[in-house]
Amino acid sequence: MIAGRLSGLSGRGLAVWTSCNAREKRWIQAKLGGVAKHATASLAAVPFLDLGAIHAPLKEELLADFAGLIDTNAYVNGPAVAELEQDFAAYCGTQHCVGLASGLDGLRLGLQAAGIEPGDEVIVPAQTFVATYEAVTQAGGTPVPVDVSNGDYNLDPALVEAAVTPRTRFLLPVHLYGQLADVKALRAIAERRGLQFVEDAAQAHGAERDGIRAGQAGLWGAFSFYPGKNLGAMGDAGALVTDDEALATRLRALREHGQRAKYIHEWEGWTARLDTLQAMVLLRKLRLLDGWNALRRSVAQAYSEQLAGLGDLVLPPVAPTSDPVWHLYVVRTAAPVALADFLRERGIGTGRHYPQAPHLSPAYAHLGYREGAFPVAETLARDGLSLPIFPGLSEAQVDAVVAGVRAYFGG
Ligand SMILES: Cc1ncc(COP(=O)(O)O)c(C=O)c1O
Repeated sequence: MIAGRLSGLSGRGLAVWTSCNAREKRWIQAKLGGVAKHATASLAAVPFLDLGAIHAPLKEELLADFAGLIDTNAYVNGPAVAELEQDFAAYCGTQHCVGLASGLDGLRLGLQAAGIEPGDEVIVPAQTFVATYEAVTQAGGTPVPVDVSNGDYNLDPALVEAAVTPRTRFLLPVHLYGQLADVKALRAIAERRGLQFVEDAAQAHGAERDGIRAGQAGLWGAFSFYPGKNLGAMGDAGALVTDDEALATRLRALREHGQRAKYIHEWEGWTARLDTLQAMVLLRKLRLLDGWNALRRSVAQAYSEQLAGLGDLVLPPVAPTSDPVWHLYVVRTAAPVALADFLRERGIGTGRHYPQAPHLSPAYAHLGYREGAFPVAETLARDGLSLPIFPGLSEAQVDAVVAGVRAYFGG
């Protein structure tokens, strides 16, 4: 009976999760990974991320998949790649998915396939992982940062139009930390100003806002399957999803030396294919993604309930119509490194995502932005600290994190 409800876990899996009693929750956690191992581990030891806990229940079936691959030698463009593409497109609610070697490849090749020209301006959020910028510059464009909103830490629709110039071609929001940007408002601006609307969904597998799923809102959405992502491979991998068949065809050529027919090179391309082995891993993990996202939501809910009102601690904002998948749980405080040190002494790992906004990094100094240009993004970079959140986290570990943060603030 529990199994039936578990298979029903979806974007709204939290309702199922919260309806479970403690025994059912233990059963789900054991099924989805890790808790058995943690039950014997020190209660205070909380890694920032434990991929071992996530992968342990999958080990036998993955080893069988890998043995099959060694028998067939289909390392490149094997059947698992097409299967994963079909399943991930269905998961995102799009017509097509093109498997790629990384999330950066998705962004860069997506811009190329959509016809970016040298010097085209691409509006990006001022706080993001640097790959968003890299994709734009490597595709020949110029990133134009716009500040993020305190309501969701994503591209602020109220500030976008002032950044549009005659050279602007693309609007590229990032769904940071697993929460969708305000895609409805941003897409309306893109349509009004004649811009291509494309998404950096690298951190948002399965997230929704206003009934729109990550990757569905615009011409394309790019995903990363870096191991630590909500859906992660065992190495680098990525994908682009789209409803545009011509774009998907172009992408399939660009990922493989610009060829549609073998050794006939229609465009200058890349080596940017998704490995068969990684597709095998992703196929196994995709089936568990909704359940894992539900577990992340329950951890986020526990943190948000139990860490409210402590000192200067600012909890992550969630927009009213948003259903985030909590890739990261980022709090803000004036001294994040002191809090991180305090928690480390109690055996609790944390992360910083990301301590330097890209416009202030040496790599992008040539764009000429100064400190103070994007105050919300810069505050988030300066004050942000990511607490542990991953599917195998036990209740005891969540309690240890809460106790640690409360102790730091004397709460
Ligand atoms: C927001 C964002 N964009 C792009 C990327 C790039 O993905 P990858 O590391 O797979 O190239 C990442 C990955 O960390 C990311 O977090």
